[in-house]
Amino acid sequence: MKSVLNGKKVLITAGPTREYLDPVRYLTNESSGKMGYAIARELINRKAEVFLISGAVTISKESIPNVVTVNSAIEMLAACKGFFREVDIAIFAAAVADYRPKVFHEQKIKKSDQVTTMEFIKNPDIASEFGKVKSGKQLSFGFALETTAMTENASKKMIEKNFDAIVINSPGKDEGFGHDTNRISVLAKDHNLKTYPLKSKIDLAVDIVNEIELSWIQKMSRKE
Ligand code: CTP
Repeated sequence: MKSVLNGKKVLITAGPTREYLDPVRYLTNESSGKMGYAIARELINRKAEVFLISGAVTISKESIPNVVTVNSAIEMLAACKGFFREVDIAIFAAAVADYRPKVFHEQKIKKSDQVTTMEFIKNPDIASEFGKVKSGKQLSFGFALETTAMTENASKKMIEKNFDAIVINSPGKDEGFGHDTNRISVLAKDHNLKTYPLKSKIDLAVDIVNEIELSWIQKMSRKE
């Protein structure tokens, strides 16, 4: 059966950002991009037109036609802005650094420079920027990696960033950043929390894309 996502334009962010201190050193996180890439592939299976904005990852980009690779949060935002207006759906799966070093050192910091403290400044919030300009026809899904008050914190993020739904996960033995498996719950504006058992990220991508289809159908039926 033809998916409702057939022909839809979808923007996805995936992977970590790197916030450089100097030409060879950066701050990052453990995101592998596996979940975002699996979602991109599942959307491509359902014939969506996917634009993947990826942080630095080691995953193969084979059979993903439109990939823009970036390093920092600022670069990721700039790349996303080129697509905000034209997409039907946006999925924010990237683990974006909230802060970056205030000063970027053009030359490698030398041991003899005795840099022992560092100041940071806030990065732009890509999902929030999209949330502000999102039209009634556009759908967005976010992610929340939480260690405490998971549903409460994720619900706040969903409202603040104007998501239609949020995928909640947490770091753990076989789940969260870097692993091939994950355990997720999906909180949507339109229905209660749904919890999925531990599964491969590839299988979870099918569940998440099913959720996206459902949200899309619900959104469209409200408009008629
Ligand atoms: N996000 C984003 N840009 C940022 C930070 C987050 O687009 N600068 C997106 C993520 O891709 C995710 C959602 O916002 O879809 C929530 O990200 P998360 O890191 O869990 O939350 P934060 O808003 O950064 O809050 P906190 O770190 O305090 O939990």
